[in-house]
Amino acid sequence: MGLLGLGTVGCGVVKIVENHQDKLKHQVGCSVKVKKALVKDLHKDRLVNIDEKLLTLHAEEVLEDPEIDVVIEVMGGVEEARHYILRALKNRKHVVTANKDLMAVYGSELLAAASENNCDLFYEASVAGGIPILRSLVDGLASDRITKMMGIVNGTTNFILTKMNNEGSSYEEVLHQAQALGFAEADPTSDVEGIDAARKMAILATLGFSMNIELKDVQVKGISSVSEEDLEYSKKLGYTMKLIGIAHREKEKVEVSVAPTLLPHAHPLASVQNEYNAVYVYGEAVGETMFYGPGAGSLPTATAVVSDLVGVMKNMRLGVNGKSMVSPQFQKTLKEKEEVQAKHFLRVHVKDEVGVLSHITNLFSNKGVSFEKILQLPLKEDALAEVVVVTHHASLQRYEDLLEELAGMPMVKEIKSSYRVEGEVAV
Ligand code: NAP
Ligand code: HSE
Repeated sequence: MGLLGLGTVGCGVVKIVENHQDKLKHQVGCSVKVKKALVKDLHKDRLVNIDEKLLTLHAEEVLEDPEIDVVIEVMGGVEEARHYILRALKNRKHVVTANKDLMAVYGSELLAAASENNCDLFYEASVAGGIPILRSLVDGLASDRITKMMGIVNGTTNFILTKMNNEGSSYEEVLHQAQALGFAEADPTSDVEGIDAARKMAILATLGFSMNIELKDVQVKGISSVSEEDLEYSKKLGYTMKLIGIAHREKEKVEVSVAPTLLPHAHPLASVQNEYNAVYVYGEAVGETMFYGPGAGSLPTATAVVSDLVGVMKNMRLGVNGKSMVSPQFQKTLKEKEEVQAKHFLRVHVKDEVGVLSHITNLFSNKGVSFEKILQLPLKEDALAEVVVVTHHASLQRYEDLLEELAGMPMVKEIKSSYRVEGEVAV
C-alpha cells in the first residue's frame, strides 16, 4: 500500500498494520506492506518509527508505482486529495480515505470514477472515527427503511462541551487541548462551526436515505457562541447541551441539520462524553439502535481505515472490486421550514418594566408558538430582566418569524441565545 499523508491517522494506520501482520495475513491471505508515504516534511518527528527511505515529497511515487495496489488517503484537504484519488483510480489502484471534507462534496464523482475503473473506494473512517457506522447502514441495516438518524459526530466539539459543562473550563483552553490531542482539524473552524459534523451528516443521510444529500443541504450552526450562561440554564432546566446532527425522513421529504441542542439528561446521547461519538439510528423494522465509540484520534480512526483496507484486499482475492457502488435510489426532496417541527430554548434580555412579559406572551400566542416553560429573572445591570423560554413543538418558519418580530420590539434589548430542544424532561 501507499500512503498519502503520515500524520495522526497515517501513523495509526502504520502502527496497526505493523502490529497485526499475522492477523492480516490470516484475513487476506498475504502480508501488507507500506511501500511509500507522501509527506510535506521529510525530517519531521513522526508518531511511528518508519524507515526514512519510505517517505517522499512526490505524489507520483505513490500514484504511479505499479507495485502499490491500495492508496490510503489520510492527508486531508479537498482539491489536491481529489486530484490524487482520481489519478490513483485511473491507475487502477483501490483507495481508502478518511476525508469527509472531500466525500461530502465530491463523493458521487469519486465513487463513479472508482466504479468505472473497477476499483474500490471505501471511506468508513470519514464518519465517527472508530465506529463502523457506514458499514452498519449499508450492510447491517440493508433490509430496513431508515427514517431518522441523530448523532454526535464531531469529537472536538463534544470534548469542548463536556469539559465546559463538567469542569467549567474555558472554551479556548479546551479547544487547545483538543488540538494537542489530535482530534481537531488543522483549521478547527470547521469543527467548532459545525461544518465537519455537517459533512458527516451529509454522508450519513446519503447512505441512510439513499438520496444524494450534499453539504449545502444541511442547515448548520456551530458551538462558538455557546456561553457559560447557556450551559448553566440548560442544566437547571434538566438538559445537557450537545452538538447534534439530525437527519429525518418523513414520507419522502428530508431534513438534515447540525446545531447545539438541549437534550434531557436521561437521553442516551446526553451521556456521550469527551471525544466519543454516538449515532442513533431509527429503522421502521428494527426500531432504535445506537452506535457508540471514539469518534476521533489516531488509533480509533486508523482501525476504520485498516478495516476498509481488509475489505479491499478480500475483494481483490474474490475479484469483485468496484462492484459495491449503488447509485442513490430516491430523488432528494428537502422539507420546507414550515414542515420542520421542533422545540426551542430562547434566552432574551428585556426591560424590567410593567407589562413586558404580557407583550412577549401575546407575540408567542399570535404566532401560534406555545410555552412549555417560561421564567423571568431580574438582572443586576440597567434595570433589565432575563426571560428564558422553552417552547412546545412549532414549525421552524413560525419560530423564525417570531424571533424576527421579537428582536424588533422596543422592550427587547437583545436575543442572547436560541437552541433546538429534543425530547421531554421528566417532571
Ligand atoms: P494530520 O495529522 O494533519 O496529517 C496530515 C498528513 O498529510 C501529514 O503527514 C502531512 O505531512 C501530510 N500532508 C498534508 N498535506 C500534504 C500535501 N499537500 N502534500 C504532502 N503531504 C501532505 O491530519 P490527520 O489528523 O491525520 O487527518 C488526516 C485525514 O483524516 C483528514 O482528512 C481528517 O479530516 C481525517 N480524519 C482525522 C481524524 C482524526 O482524529 N485526526 C479522524 C477522522 C478523520 P507532514 O507530516 O509532513 O506535515
Ligand atoms: N475533527 C474531527 C472531530 C476528527 O473532531 O470529530 C474526526 O473526524
